[in-house]
Amino acid sequence: MPLLRRRASLSTIRQQIIGINQKVPIHDGRYVRYINLDNAATTPTLRPILDKVLEFLPWYSGVHRGSGYKSLVSTAMYDDARMRIARFFNADPDYHVAIFCKNTTEAINLVAARLQFRPEDMVLTTLMEHHSNDLPWRRVAKVIRADVLADGSLDEEDFEKKLSLYHRRIKLVTVSGASNVTGWINNIYKIAALAHGYNIPILVDGAQLAAHRAINLSTADDPCRIDFLAVSGHKLYAPFGTGVLIGPRRVFEQGSPEIVGGGTVNLVTPRGVEWTRPPARDEAGSPNLIGVIALATALEVLSDLGMDNIAAHEQSLTDYAVAKLARIPGIKLYGSTKPQDENRLGVMSFSLEGYEHGLVAAHLAFYGGIGVRSGCFCAQPYIQRLLGLEEKDIARLRHSLAVGAIKQLPGLVRVSFGLYNNHREIDRLAETLELLRSRSPEYWLTHLPWDDELKSYIPKKLASHLRQISLT
Ligand code: ALA
Repeated sequence: MPLLRRRASLSTIRQQIIGINQKVPIHDGRYVRYINLDNAATTPTLRPILDKVLEFLPWYSGVHRGSGYKSLVSTAMYDDARMRIARFFNADPDYHVAIFCKNTTEAINLVAARLQFRPEDMVLTTLMEHHSNDLPWRRVAKVIRADVLADGSLDEEDFEKKLSLYHRRIKLVTVSGASNVTGWINNIYKIAALAHGYNIPILVDGAQLAAHRAINLSTADDPCRIDFLAVSGHKLYAPFGTGVLIGPRRVFEQGSPEIVGGGTVNLVTPRGVEWTRPPARDEAGSPNLIGVIALATALEVLSDLGMDNIAAHEQSLTDYAVAKLARIPGIKLYGSTKPQDENRLGVMSFSLEGYEHGLVAAHLAFYGGIGVRSGCFCAQPYIQRLLGLEEKDIARLRHSLAVGAIKQLPGLVRVSFGLYNNHREIDRLAETLELLRSRSPEYWLTHLPWDDELKSYIPKKLASHLRQISLT
């Protein structure tokens, strides 16, 4: 039952974004078209993905559980989507297996639970990781982190030094494909070859990278292969609650699954259980078939558009934004400011001297209708390093937070692009920042009545509007 889908092209893709013309309220009650510059958090969805989901829904039924025709169709769609997703990342069918999870965080936690660490084992990671590629390892191993350089990029020398010093105890190397704060892209294939030189497998947190660059897992005999990859559908234009973990089949053939229940077994008696083979062994319960179909379709759309075309378009947006923001007095950009820098994604963080990050983000939202993220982006150790915070500063902050003297930790403002953003949106970003700069922070803090109850800055008028929405 092949479902038809028209091929997408980058020049018209913007009109295929669901919600591209959505208007949102701003400070004075007017409505303006929303500009989403927060794609690093979550991407919107694309019409062809929704069409595919709607087209499939009449066939929706149980997967691997029924003998009715719809169940057979659903099972075939699920198995076929798994194969297509693995193929998109050039996985080796003899080595890798694709296991569906909720998101990257769940996928990484699953590896941490399934790798069978011993007390003396270490995990080598980096200081630039998202908490989801740091906290799960702290539970199971001693975590060591390669440092970053002053510009926030990975200190590869330090990585090599730590790898060579501790290789006998390192059970896994795990790095982000690209930073969700500065957009720096790590040379994952070089890191993989270094790790494999010591027979250590590598995991790549592909949450940020996957929607922007091709990822080549390659074959078992390739020293540059990636052993484990974790990605989230919601950052790949498929916001239906599915992510995927691709890893060596043999790892998931051993031990018990982390979550147990329906679908994970061959035989259960009152006293015993025989687990089934991967991937079903680690996919307890009825799967998220719609999420899986959406993810497979999203990857097909990305293939049609061409990952190189996507990278070139986002590079042009990034260069334009860097040049525009760098001209605004008081802005400090973190990460690369080099034009045409192939080692970075369209994710950039900045500060505006004198203005708190939360206020900048609120101003963009309520004067420009622009969505960004501000704070520490679930990467606090990295932000602490970028901001030059030392132990004593952090101790002081911890105390201030505990006694309620400050609401937020120091942080940055982040803009991040997707394949559909355009240069005019960056113009509006720059204009709104110029408007903010034209008055003092005190002016903006007192100009609007802000709501006190909500954590971030929200004008009182809109906060009551939001409360109504959440009640209806
Ligand atoms: N990891 C996502 C972000 O960076 C949620 O915003």
